[in-house]
Amino acid sequence: MAAEMALLKPISFKPETSPLKTSAKFSRTTYRFSPKMAATQAKETTKKSGKAAIKETLLAPRFYTTDFDEMETLFNTEINKNLNQSEFEALLQEFKTDYNQTHFVRNKEFKEAADKIQGPLRQIFVEFLERSCTAEFSGFLLYKELGRRLKKTNPVVAEIFSLMSRDEARHAGFLNKGLSDFNLALDLGFLTKARKYTFFKPKFIFYATYLSEKIGYWRYITIYRHLKENPEYQVYPIFKYFENWCQDENRHGDFFSALMKAQPQFLNDWKAKLWSRFFCLSVYVTMYLNDCQRTAFYEGIGLNTKEFDMHVIIETNRTTARIFPAVLDVENPEFKRKLDRMVEINQKLLAVGESDAPALVKNIQRVPLIAALASELLAAYLMPPIESGSVDFAEFEPQLVY
Ligand SMILES: [Fe+2]
Ligand SMILES: [Fe+2]
Repeated sequence: MAAEMALLKPISFKPETSPLKTSAKFSRTTYRFSPKMAATQAKETTKKSGKAAIKETLLAPRFYTTDFDEMETLFNTEINKNLNQSEFEALLQEFKTDYNQTHFVRNKEFKEAADKIQGPLRQIFVEFLERSCTAEFSGFLLYKELGRRLKKTNPVVAEIFSLMSRDEARHAGFLNKGLSDFNLALDLGFLTKARKYTFFKPKFIFYATYLSEKIGYWRYITIYRHLKENPEYQVYPIFKYFENWCQDENRHGDFFSALMKAQPQFLNDWKAKLWSRFFCLSVYVTMYLNDCQRTAFYEGIGLNTKEFDMHVIIETNRTTARIFPAVLDVENPEFKRKLDRMVEINQKLLAVGESDAPALVKNIQRVPLIAALASELLAAYLMPPIESGSVDFAEFEPQLVY
């Protein structure tokens, strides 16, 4: 997983403890994690390190859990005759090849580059690494558990999940090593225990994770290509790794595409169309609002934030249209106008949050802004969609057997 899979849910401002700490210990962490090991680390580190409180917000990267019993049923070859085991076997071989086994090797350029990043850009860089690491680690936890839970029912699918968790652990570990260049480390063990887990039914895990992988692919490849053309903005070497890295995300997305094809009931009716549009909107809006709060980062590497985001949204939407039964008309200029209005409203909401007014006053000030945001979201959702998808509806309609 690469992108932040935050979704539009009621805002909860429950304070959490920050997992970010100044430590040299985690710079020695290997790229393999296990939830068990992580839990042990969590115990030690909660005692040792003093951590400042942070807020869990609407747009923060989330950790996910699902109904594993339902997952087992979905991947039971006895029950689900749509499972194309030969396709999964082929995918498994691809994952076993492990193209990036030797890709994530650091060199001394990292620390030297990090030392040169100073001023406001330094803080925003740290935040980028922290959020990306959390998002990758979220994928690791979910895939690891799916690999474990599906072992008996469908060993091939289970092994693919385990190999995807291997990739995500590598990605998270590499980003965490990046944080060590800034004399910080994300306490992943602590995160595993302390973060809230969002529950999604399997169907929604498929939509959200597919989108997250594909949007992650487009983000990484776009940054990589931009920096290749404009090397003067290559301020930190991690971006040089994005070309091969994003191929991992692309493969993960393709696996989810194969999984969804094996579950045509998630793709072939009007409800699937409504949910597809909902998830596209959630993922695109979350990214746009998040990135527009962090323009300093994108400008720091020579990108125009909104142009970058629109490129990523359009490309992700085109890719997604190959499998989702409906997608949003993101190339309609009205869609971007709506996103921009949401950014303005969100900025006002943030300003209310940061003001010194009493909590009650703040809440009253928020009401019209939340209503305005909700109405923009609804209007974007209701824009005429694009019918899409490659699953043949008729093929899956119930047929009479004589
Ligand atoms: Fe990843
Ligand atoms: Fe991924």
